[in-house]
Amino acid sequence: MDAFRHHVFVCTRRKEEGECCATQGSQDLFEQLKAAIQKAKLPEVKLTTCGCLGLCDRPGNVLVYPEGTWYSGVTPREVEEIVEQHLRRGEPVQRLAWPTPEALRAHMAAVRERHQREREERQAGRAG
Ligand code: FES
Repeated sequence: MDAFRHHVFVCTRRKEEGECCATQGSQDLFEQLKAAIQKAKLPEVKLTTCGCLGLCDRPGNVLVYPEGTWYSGVTPREVEEIVEQHLRRGEPVQRLAWPTPEALRAHMAAVRERHQREREERQAGRAG
């Protein structure tokens, strides 16, 4: 028996340098999700924050398990839709979700490479 029907993660990571979800309103998004889940009376849904998911360029990163649905770019406008359609009725909001695991992994790899390049440039700038 699972303790929760859905576990929802929201990236609220704040980074010292570079892009991150925290500077793009992720804590507000988390609070709005929390309020919407409470309003919808869904005690079987667990909501927690999480660290960087490697999708820092698309803040509003929300994961829903056990389905493994990854949403990026979620704004307050979509909170009610995710709560009602996905968390209540069990139907992921496809238009907001990553279309395939391959697309998700490819984007993460591109972000990781770009961040590595930026780190190296910053370090070179400090050294020079
Ligand atoms: S800081 Fe949220 S995905 Fe990287």
